[in-house]
Amino acid sequence: MSYDLIVIGAGPGGYVCAIRAAQLGLKVACVEGRDTLGGTCLNVGCIPSKALLHATHQLHEAEHNFDTMGLTGAKPKVDWKKMLGYKSDVIGQNTKGIEFLFKKNKVDWIKGWASIPAAGKVQVGDKTYETKKIVIASGSESSPLKGVEVDEKTIVSSTGALELGKIPKKLVVIGAGVIGLEMGSVFARLGAEVTVVEYLDRIIPGNDGEVAKSFQRLLAKQGMTFILGAAVQSASATKTKATVTYKLRKDDSEHKLDADTVLLATGRRPFVDGLGLDALGVKMTERGQIATDKHYATSIAGVYAIGDVIEGPMLAHKAEDEGMAVAEIIAGQAGHVNYGVIPGVIYTWPEVASVGETEETLKEAGRTYKVGKFSFMGNGRAKANFAGDGFVKILADKDTDRILGAHIIGPYAGDLIHEICVAMEFGAAAEDLARTCHAHPTYSEAVREAALACGDGAIHA
Ligand code: NAI
Repeated sequence: MSYDLIVIGAGPGGYVCAIRAAQLGLKVACVEGRDTLGGTCLNVGCIPSKALLHATHQLHEAEHNFDTMGLTGAKPKVDWKKMLGYKSDVIGQNTKGIEFLFKKNKVDWIKGWASIPAAGKVQVGDKTYETKKIVIASGSESSPLKGVEVDEKTIVSSTGALELGKIPKKLVVIGAGVIGLEMGSVFARLGAEVTVVEYLDRIIPGNDGEVAKSFQRLLAKQGMTFILGAAVQSASATKTKATVTYKLRKDDSEHKLDADTVLLATGRRPFVDGLGLDALGVKMTERGQIATDKHYATSIAGVYAIGDVIEGPMLAHKAEDEGMAVAEIIAGQAGHVNYGVIPGVIYTWPEVASVGETEETLKEAGRTYKVGKFSFMGNGRAKANFAGDGFVKILADKDTDRILGAHIIGPYAGDLIHEICVAMEFGAAAEDLARTCHAHPTYSEAVREAALACGDGAIHA
């Protein structure tokens, strides 16, 4: 069998690349070793965690706000097995959807794990396929932490956390990044006592500092405990419980925490096992990523790489965009990703979303900027919906008014951020957003008010 393109990995980077390349007229196959398509994101990541976040947010609403709205009656009980069933059903619908899209676009799914014996060849099991081009989109895996042995039962990665046999009474989360806080808030809403141990003196590193502070306060109000500036030394498990040992960085003192379950969420690393990259001579970066040029070409002619295996944020949508871009490049078009406008979203309640520069990065670069901020407390829709916590913050160039970044903590922040992304993509000024009519009453009025606050002032502040 020979192809124009073989894509290795059917996660959001790989499957999108395969579909786009087929749409552009190439003969395409995609190799995937899992039983279902969709990679980490659809099978054990973004999609299942969002199902659990959705279910537990509904529970939170029922427990905290229904009575106030005159919705009285028995409080819902949690049937964990059924909730996991709902989550699996959502996964199934999504992964089957991609199978359908592969058939529709005539992309062949080669089942199995691929290696690259030479440029132009992909081996799967005992079969070798000829191909003009290869795209590696093999994704990432949880990073290990010295002294912490993940057994996916008591000490779990995000994968095990999505399949726990029962809801833990006490959960210790190592790492206050995206995974730790999303999964931590799922179990906090289900009644677990959740303690998050974080190495740095703040949560969600890389995000706007003011948003991080506000986010920590809101999560603490929901019952989560934070131990910051604490380096985890080890975690050990017996059949019934686990113990986490950490050292406080300020005085080097050692402390212990007991838990029924420990979630290790200290980052992910590129997954390239079994591809044979060493033997092929593919150049890697110091951080174990596949080195690529601006057109996703590796050091081997005809072999490209995208997504979590190369540099940049490990985000499904970044991988998707790279998947489309590399397919276009291979088909002779001008594929391109604007890395300055890649949103990041944390799907807790409230959600946290960001795009572009933060105040920290602007200060570091010595740039002058102005801040337009608006609280959801001043937004009528948010007040009606018990969603007044949080704010929209827009950063604009002090002289030109061009939008440089935006940070939102609040209801549906992950959706609201996109009007700012589009504005940034078009090089808009804050005034352009401020002069755009926004329907009333909507959450997005808070975005407009923040844009107004970059100029002569918000109306409802
Ligand atoms: P992360 O990089 O977001 O956060 C890891 C945290 O662990 C950091 O705050 C770090 O300081 C801390 N840490 C490291 N070593 C530690 C130690 N010894 N003791 C205590 N704390 C320690 O990594 P995370 O949350 O595991 O996520 C992995 C990747 O998956 C990220 O790139 C993330 O963007 C992506 N992801 C994205 C999601 C989204 O877009 N909503 C959802 C889930 C994952």
